[in-house]
Amino acid sequence: MNGKVNGAMIGLGFGAEFLPIYAAHPQANIGAICRRNAAELEKTGNQFRIEKRYTDYDAVLADPEIDFVHINSPIPDHAWMTLKALDAGKHVMCTVPMATTIEDCQKIVEKVKATGLKYMMAETVVYSREYLFIKEMFTKGELGKIQHLAASHPQDMDGWPSYWEQMIPMHYATHAVSPCLGLVDGLAEYVSCFGSGTVRDDIAEKSGNKFAVESCHIKVKDSDLTAHIWRFLYDVARQYRESFDVYGTKKSFEWTLVENEPHVLHTAKKPEPEIAEKVEVPDYAHLLPAEIQKFTQPAEIHDSEHLSFIQGGGHGGSHPHLVHEFVSALKEDRDPMPNAVTSANWTCVGICAHQSALRGGEIVRLPEFTLG
Ligand SMILES: NC(=O)c1ccc[n+]([C@@H]2O[C@H](COP(=O)([O-])OP(=O)(O)OC[C@H]3O[C@@H](n4cnc5c(N)ncnc54)[C@H](O)[C@@H]3O)[C@@H](O)[C@H]2O)c1
Repeated sequence: MNGKVNGAMIGLGFGAEFLPIYAAHPQANIGAICRRNAAELEKTGNQFRIEKRYTDYDAVLADPEIDFVHINSPIPDHAWMTLKALDAGKHVMCTVPMATTIEDCQKIVEKVKATGLKYMMAETVVYSREYLFIKEMFTKGELGKIQHLAASHPQDMDGWPSYWEQMIPMHYATHAVSPCLGLVDGLAEYVSCFGSGTVRDDIAEKSGNKFAVESCHIKVKDSDLTAHIWRFLYDVARQYRESFDVYGTKKSFEWTLVENEPHVLHTAKKPEPEIAEKVEVPDYAHLLPAEIQKFTQPAEIHDSEHLSFIQGGGHGGSHPHLVHEFVSALKEDRDPMPNAVTSANWTCVGICAHQSALRGGEIVRLPEFTLG
């Protein structure tokens, strides 16, 4: 692609966070925005000086100047919007999860293959500073051989838009799945998941799910590793957390129990009181073009009052990394990380996990199209 890649931002709640980052990126531009509420659309358009404003998604797709869409609509809209965009010849970056059914994940993977267009699921965790820190230690050999991975994403969704009441906890599990698989560059082969506890009647009725907590083991394909993840959306007393623990032969990283307190690094074979030490995680802005480095910092977040920012801990400074990875993939004509197959594997872990929970923990294999 010559010149800047030109995109449209779809959904301007969380989506608005990315507008200043694209605007500052040397190789990208957001030429259009889209949301259904016309008054709010005008407000964002004026604030970020974006000329083309659409309330109709089809009109965005009909615009020949748009190379890609970045979808930040509610979860039930991710799959159909992605498929329509690919049909219209647009590359897609879509917020998590890819879809909520195996069939929709398969349709997206097949359409990406058939069209040669790029697809990236905008998974924030694998671009967070903690993940980048752990990945760097792992790559340098400082962790030794990895022996176990664990992640959690407890989040009380009372106070969020009502569509969350219809969600199954494991249908939004990618923040827990992705670091475990991403770190070891692995794909999930099969899962076993247990449901635990019970949500209140109205939530159980709206979602069709009675479990308060879903707790899943993931077998990593072609590896001796197993990961453990757990997830809840309602009726459990716990502060928000997107945790990631990694256990190696030389060093292990454990996530803090309380938000904004230091994480813990354990080093093997030291005197017992010295094994655990609190660690400050560095920022990874230096991996980015100078123009967007400042966006890893909370002060540069457009709406730091948004619940997704407060509860998500600012997503570990990941937003500019996501933009840069997607834009670079388009410019270099390569697959982004995660590509469609990996995104489908990470998403289907949660879908298969819920199926397993409904069958009392029975092993459920990931579908073939997610295995590379
Ligand atoms: N860490 C993360 O990865 C993370 C964090 C926050 C939100 N999210 C995801 O981002 C998405 C949006 O979250 P939110 O909190 O901003 O939700 P929201 O409900 O506040 O905003 C959704 C936006 O989508 C727009 N929209 C809905 N249907 C549309 C349509 N048919 N055409 C055009 N626009 C449409 C709405 O107008 C609104 O601007 C969700 O899928 C959520 O899971 C991900």
